Amino acid sequence: MMLPGVIEFRDVAEPDTLGDHEILLRIKKIGICGSDIHVYHGKHPATPYPVIQGHEYSAVVEALGNKVSKVKKGMKVTARPQQVCGMCRPCKKGQYNACQNLKVEGFQAPGVAQDLFVVPEDRVVVFPDEMSFEKGALIEPTAVGVHATGRPGSLKDKNVVVSGAGTIGNLVAQFAKIRGAKKVLITDVSNYRLNKAKECGISGILNINETSFDKGTRDFFEAEGFQVAFEAAGVQASLDVLLQFVEKGGDVIILGVYSKNPVVNMYYLGEHELNIYGSMMYRHEDYEAAVEMISSGRIITGPLLTKSFPFEKFPEAYMFIERQGDRYMKVMIDM
Ligand SMILES: NC(=O)c1ccc[n+]([C@@H]2O[C@H](COP(=O)([O-])OP(=O)(O)OC[C@H]3O[C@@H](n4cnc5c(N)ncnc54)[C@H](O)[C@@H]3O)[C@@H](O)[C@H]2O)c1
Ligand SMILES: [Zn+2]
Ligand SMILES: [Zn+2]
Repeated sequence: MMLPGVIEFRDVAEPDTLGDHEILLRIKKIGICGSDIHVYHGKHPATPYPVIQGHEYSAVVEALGNKVSKVKKGMKVTARPQQVCGMCRPCKKGQYNACQNLKVEGFQAPGVAQDLFVVPEDRVVVFPDEMSFEKGALIEPTAVGVHATGRPGSLKDKNVVVSGAGTIGNLVAQFAKIRGAKKVLITDVSNYRLNKAKECGISGILNINETSFDKGTRDFFEAEGFQVAFEAAGVQASLDVLLQFVEKGGDVIILGVYSKNPVVNMYYLGEHELNIYGSMMYRHEDYEAAVEMISSGRIITGPLLTKSFPFEKFPEAYMFIERQGDRYMKVMIDM
């Protein structure tokens, strides 16, 4: 992408040498997500142009460096798109997803919208042969859900609201249930997306345009209220109601990327003694958990797959997304 909305195709040379611990991947499927769409619109807070997009994907191992032991040629894999320095304090304490010098492929470093792509062995995760390439490309957003739901500590016996029923909110809500939340309510302004949540086994849904957030959450949780809230819409109105109505002393986890920086109501934060957690992508173990949960079928992914476009039709994929309005979940590029 040269500039917002301007996609250009280029012929590039094949990578010719591999480091000892590097793996050459042949890319198969690439998912397009909310963050990519922000980049398409020029509204991502941290992406310079030009940029090669593509950060959620599945691939096949094409060739191996001399010392690679983790994978064999032909295996189905994906890899974390995180280039980290390994030297800063967050990296040294294991919080490398928040590396001081983090570069995310597809945003601050070239992404995988290419036939061939080189990754270091330590970022690669294998998935089973029986799992489709579509499901393989959903490992990344699923890992976002694993990580975010682990941020506030145990969800056991807590009531949870997830605001935003896009792919991310959907997967967060599914993981909240797996992690033992008592009741989970997902909210959106789109009935299409709320019905997708239902198809994925999330029975508590609320369209805040039809019933106010306040009334809808009271009806659903009754006197118990809710103790944990995930912001997965990335808009001011969503953040506002979570801060206002989460139980005092409760937890609010921020996943949304805001195209317009929101105003935070410090009254609720301070006087309700709330805990606000950021949640940045994932770590390796989150990818491994995502593979296990998708392949075992505990995380339901079928309803999330909307449509695939061939690589040459990348611009059409974005036009389709625009045309569909709210009536899509995951659109993929087929290499
Ligand atoms: N933190 C991370 O690691 C991480 C990773 C991936 C994506 N993201 C971000 O998470 C957000 C969600 O991603 P996505 O791919 O599901 O995006 P999406 O745009 O598909 O989904 C957002 C949903 O929020 C809904 N929404 C809008 N206003 C709302 C409101 N007031 N209340 C409730 N819902 C409302 C929209 O209708 C939509 O269904 C995006 O901002 C994305 O950039 C963060
Ligand atoms: Zn993404
Ligand atoms: Zn670092």
